[in-house]
Amino acid sequence: MAATGFRIQIPATTANCGCGYDSFGMALGYYNDIEIRESDAFSIDIEGEGANTLAFTPQNLVVRSAQAAYELAGISMPPLSFLCRNNIPLARGMGSSSAAIVGGIYAANLMMGKPLDHPAMLELASKIEGHPDNVAPALYGGFTVIANEGGKQYIKKVALPDTLHAVLASPDFPISTKKARAIMPRNVSLDDAVYSLSHAAYLALSIAEGDMAGLRAMLFDRLHQPYRFTLIKGAEDVVEAAIAAGAIGCVISGSGPTMIAFTEDDPILMENIGYAMQEAFAAADVTAQIRKVEMDNQGVRLA
Ligand code: HSE
Repeated sequence: MAATGFRIQIPATTANCGCGYDSFGMALGYYNDIEIRESDAFSIDIEGEGANTLAFTPQNLVVRSAQAAYELAGISMPPLSFLCRNNIPLARGMGSSSAAIVGGIYAANLMMGKPLDHPAMLELASKIEGHPDNVAPALYGGFTVIANEGGKQYIKKVALPDTLHAVLASPDFPISTKKARAIMPRNVSLDDAVYSLSHAAYLALSIAEGDMAGLRAMLFDRLHQPYRFTLIKGAEDVVEAAIAAGAIGCVISGSGPTMIAFTEDDPILMENIGYAMQEAFAAADVTAQIRKVEMDNQGVRLA
């Protein structure tokens, strides 16, 4: 009898979206794949990104997350074999660790016959990741807003307009989220707090209404970008270059170093924006890889 197994796809994500530090996320049409099956013994194989660096042991983040899902459901994990086909680059601000965590949990949940619902998977994934703004869009797709209140996690998701696309420029150096969080100030001024509050609220409503002019006006930030620009050589020039080339706006993707430019769905425009971003990085002696993507409104799913 064939072993039970599933193949799933997990989207890359971009967190913060400018002014939504630790609160906003979007799912991108760029995916990792995981195949999971019952087996006689544990095994894991990794292809693509991280094939030479990630753990091929039960300590692998996908496996640890699957194990955590089994524990949460109160079911003991059988021997499983995992095949991870990774496209999302590691430590570049595109949600690779969230994809691993959400992938492991979602795959395990399928194997168990789906005892966990989305809120339970979100809570578990956030606990493993430490902050929820990448795991939420990886799980739900679209544009997500997360807020914690009274020990409870609140999530709102809206679909992203089909016309919205993105061009990402990923420098060839990693930045650990730990380092990018350590650089953040402990306190912010009331002016910056009000600026962030108003921009974040306006940006969220603009996305919900499909108001691209509102999005264009609000893709700026005072909470994390001014500090993190110091870690990403050329990043401020990349923002200017992307906007000059016709992007709706350009911000640091997650904790960087990838820069993400939002754009209309127009292949020539996207080509021009990618070229402009790459040239601006090159002027700062940074080699960057360009990716052009649609947005994802579905989140993790069966492949
Ligand atoms: N919101 C997190 C941060 C995302 O900016 O540190 C990490 O990718």
